[in-house]
Amino acid sequence: MENDNQEQTHQRRVRYEGTHPKSFKEKYKELQPEKYADAVAKVIQKGNTPAGTHRSICVKEIIEFLQITPGQTGLDATLGYGGHTLEMLKCLSSDGHMYATDVDSIELPRTRERLKHLGYGPEILTIKQMNFSDIDQIALESGPLNFVLADLGVSSMQIDNPERGFSFKSEGPLDLRLNPTKGESAADRLKTISQVELEGMLLENSDEPYCVEISRAIVSTIKKGKHIETTTGLQQIISDSLQFIPEKTRDDEIKKSCQRCFQALRIDVNNEFEVLNEFLEKLPATLAEGGRVAILSFHSGEDRLVKKSFKRFLREGLYKEIAPEAIRPSSEERNTNGRARSAKLRWAIKA
Ligand SMILES: C[S@@+](CC[C@H](N)C(=O)[O-])C[C@H]1O[C@@H](n2cnc3c(N)ncnc32)[C@H](O)[C@@H]1O
Repeated sequence: MENDNQEQTHQRRVRYEGTHPKSFKEKYKELQPEKYADAVAKVIQKGNTPAGTHRSICVKEIIEFLQITPGQTGLDATLGYGGHTLEMLKCLSSDGHMYATDVDSIELPRTRERLKHLGYGPEILTIKQMNFSDIDQIALESGPLNFVLADLGVSSMQIDNPERGFSFKSEGPLDLRLNPTKGESAADRLKTISQVELEGMLLENSDEPYCVEISRAIVSTIKKGKHIETTTGLQQIISDSLQFIPEKTRDDEIKKSCQRCFQALRIDVNNEFEVLNEFLEKLPATLAEGGRVAILSFHSGEDRLVKKSFKRFLREGLYKEIAPEAIRPSSEERNTNGRARSAKLRWAIKA
């Protein structure tokens, strides 16, 4: 009898408030792509990314450029869902070795399991939870690298999971850390920040045109003793501070400002510019002669750093060739994957 009850409970259909699953947790089919391939295919067909997964960007362009051959050694500096890693591993044809790093303590074990399940265990793939700014440590173990990929920023799994606090589209703790076990959350960061510092952060990290109004509103809220603990709480303050914008464009402007403010805070709490700089500085010394590196960036701040570093090392003779200009995903990819729209790919070849 007890067993029967358990069986019935188990089979009960998930009930949504509307006709379709909306919240992250309700999307139980998308969260199990192995079991519900049809449901996942439908989501992709609509140009969306199934919850709990990530669609790799510029895969064809990256694989074509890296020219991976069996026997080589390479690094995927940003493992994420493992989509790019998987394609690179296929090029090795079971001969050679790949290293992969990611700071994310939540998604990394899941990706490790998924890749192991696909036949890529430690004999061919070494996965380490570490910051790519420590690429020199990887090279000490791996020896000179024939190919390196960095696909910067955040994964769809991170953005879509409200508990990670990366998006204001649903309520969650205002965290924004790629590795939530380390450092300071965005909510804590805001508790002690001065208005001048916050204004500078919004301007430098995401060119926020309303940085003065928004930083004033945030700091004055906190000074009144009201801590901003949630994603939607921050969104509300940004929205309240921009009510002077003419009605015609207000909603659109507020949405864009929210996107830029969340990006600026994310860059800050994860020291994204500092670690990218360190990675770029160390990169040439880790590459084998003729070694190839590809970097995908998603906003102008990142792309500027990559471009500057590649150009400098080309001038200094450490790279023999670099991408003459940034490569954009094909129009088909941009149309079918919203998250590919801002991507820029640059590459360099070690002298
Ligand atoms: C865009 S996703 C990568 C997706 C991956 N290429 C794929 O195909 O699934 C970026 C990943 O890089 C990780 N990441 C960002 N900055 C990092 C850093 N400094 N060191 C290591 N990993 C980092 C993030 O945690 C995230 O998982």
